[in-house]
Amino acid sequence: MALDRLVVTDFRNIEHCDLSFSSHMNILVGDNGSGKTSLLEAIFFLGHGRSFRSQLTNRVIRHQQAKLVLFGQVLDQHNSKLPLGLAKGRDGQSEVKLGGEKQQTLAQLANVLPIQLITPEGFTLLAGGPKYRRAYIDWGVFHQEPQFFELWRRVKRITKQRNALLKTVRTYQPLAVWDAELSRLSEQVSALRQGYIEQLLPRVETLCQAFLPEYQCQLKYSRGWDADTPLQTVLEQNFQRDSQFGYTTVGPHKADLRLRINGTPVEDVLSRGQLKLLVCALRLAQGQDLTQTTGKQCIYLIDDFASELDAEKRGLLAQQLAETRAQVFISCISADQVSEMMIEQPVVFHVKQGEISQQ
Ligand SMILES: Nc1ncnc2c1ncn2[C@@H]1O[C@H](COP(=O)(O)OP(=O)(O)O)[C@@H](O)[C@H]1O
Ligand SMILES: [Mg+2]
Repeated sequence: MALDRLVVTDFRNIEHCDLSFSSHMNILVGDNGSGKTSLLEAIFFLGHGRSFRSQLTNRVIRHQQAKLVLFGQVLDQHNSKLPLGLAKGRDGQSEVKLGGEKQQTLAQLANVLPIQLITPEGFTLLAGGPKYRRAYIDWGVFHQEPQFFELWRRVKRITKQRNALLKTVRTYQPLAVWDAELSRLSEQVSALRQGYIEQLLPRVETLCQAFLPEYQCQLKYSRGWDADTPLQTVLEQNFQRDSQFGYTTVGPHKADLRLRINGTPVEDVLSRGQLKLLVCALRLAQGQDLTQTTGKQCIYLIDDFASELDAEKRGLLAQQLAETRAQVFISCISADQVSEMMIEQPVVFHVKQGEISQQ
């Protein structure tokens, strides 16, 4: 799975570009503010229908322009070409096309363009709130379990309805029927998450060993409610509390993945550079696992590659990336920061004031 070609129109400071990529290593070189992150963001946007830097599409559309347009051509694992396109306007209008057909949802984009993003802000995976770790788990489950997307959508919808109801009812009784359904679906969601984490764990451990041999990391999944009690029982027990808060305080929307070293949260033990390595290990583990279980490869977007990694660790990451055979995009200020990556015969792009040219 690789992005073979990308056409960008009016995205951030990129007015227009039409690029062909290597299926392995692509390096973006340019000064600060030239548009490197914007290009990675455009690739991410094509795979998600949203940015990783802003919730607001208006921020992403080039100044003074009405809409952004992205077109890509993906090579799948059988080497067939799949065109995909996405347009989003300031008026909120959007259009998604896949293989020439209009799509109703964005989920299909993620399906054909699995992306792993590694940015300097990526520590949120370790030091941010649980939502970042849930997103991490769900990325893997989504790509592996076709039924997950719909299950999870229904859980979210019922939880929302339950929250609205919590604000109006005085006794538990009216909630019981909702909770029965919510519990049934939530147990399924959680079983899928749990199964995925168990499958992923050995890979994470191996990569942590390679990247941070001096530490022993432990990974523990918590499903969002008491491990030994059915959700329905916990929901009933928590009724008074949930009523006071006005929302559901337990359930799969509270799941988390705890990372510890000798019982202490990793963010209290590791340096920033080490946290970055741990993030790399987690993301690589997911990508390798995806390939193993589905035959698909994910695309790695690595922004500001050199920051906070020493040459030895950069080499280690380069080697691990090369072994996945996946497509990689790496941004840096000068090419000598990524000399460790040159083993892969990279295609180098120069980025200057929104103009991108292949070397
Ligand atoms: N919506 C927009 N329209 C035009 N230019 C923008 C927009 N949003 C950001 N920019 C500009 O795009 C430039 C490139 O930013 P960025 O991609 O973050 O650079 P780099 O990652 O190379 O340091 C910045 O100078 C920024 O001011
Ligand atoms: Mg940048």
